[in-house]
Amino acid sequence: MRLADPKIVSALPELGVELQSGVSLATLTSLGIGGRTDLLRIRKHESIPDLLQLLDSHAIPHKFLGGGSNLLIGDGELPWVVLQLVRPEPDVILDGNRAHVDAAADLGRTVTYCAKHDLGGMEGLIGVPGTVGGALRMNAGAYGMQIGSYVREVKVYRVAPRKIETLRGDQISFEYRHTSFAPDDMMLAVILELPSKPYKEILQGIRICNEKRRSSQPLGQKSAGCIFKNPPGASAGRMIDDLGLKGLAVGDARVSDRHANFFVNAGNASARDMLALIANVRDRVEQAYSAKLENEVVVWNA
Ligand code: EPU
Repeated sequence: MRLADPKIVSALPELGVELQSGVSLATLTSLGIGGRTDLLRIRKHESIPDLLQLLDSHAIPHKFLGGGSNLLIGDGELPWVVLQLVRPEPDVILDGNRAHVDAAADLGRTVTYCAKHDLGGMEGLIGVPGTVGGALRMNAGAYGMQIGSYVREVKVYRVAPRKIETLRGDQISFEYRHTSFAPDDMMLAVILELPSKPYKEILQGIRICNEKRRSSQPLGQKSAGCIFKNPPGASAGRMIDDLGLKGLAVGDARVSDRHANFFVNAGNASARDMLALIANVRDRVEQAYSAKLENEVVVWNA
């Protein structure tokens, strides 16, 4: 979708919003899949209510993009514009055991920055790609930890009341790859409270997690991490692997040979290919195990 109305286009600079026209979203997702649309880059959180008011008053549909690392976006010209926060500098400010982090901050860099200041707890998240906002929204976790455990406060833009609100950690429920945020809540910033730990000790934990990840996941390839959530008490990757489906492909969308719950873009995969592969694997798992796998990857289909 292209913003052509001069009333919208001329209002954007005043809001501190940069318009990038006809951006290929494939360049903004870790899967390297996605069609084209206009991208609105937001510099000031405070301008979001006015920006959303402007878009709504002209009936412009929109979606909010984080780091694009758990996302499958449809092909072709897309029927909505995309909003994304510009990462401020600095994006992490420490205050004792509390880290004030912008949602656009890179998750891995945030973990490392806190570690260098002797704040630990998030070692397991070191290799998880994406932004802190994205990790927060889905309660990203790995190796026995999840980001939700450390959340003390979240600044969020809520679409229904059209305002920026601050929620305390105990007002949000964090479950396995799920949170109580509304689907259209936009994460803006978070305060994490982290346990003190010597940097050397944290680094050891980080090294162990990195090693485990390198040995079991296809890190050099384009993927969205795990495609499916694990059913209670089971591993989707193991279930798919046991069915002999590693290497199964639709076009260039392919079940990883290394970890069967990672589906990789092995060249020029389309969203259509990837969606067909997901549907195919889900069907086969359902036939074999009578279990319906739920997507972990978020799908924005045109
Ligand atoms: N396994 C196989 N074949 C495979 C993949 C896994 O036999 O192709 C076996 C492993 O050998 C292991 C068991 O299945 O015995 C579990 O595998 P793994 O330790 O890789 O964990 P997982 O359940 O597949 C989860 C998360 C990952 C996270 C790892 C480590 C989900 C959906 N996946 O994977 O998170 O990195 O644990 O904590 O919860 C993600 O969410 O995108 C993600 C990658």
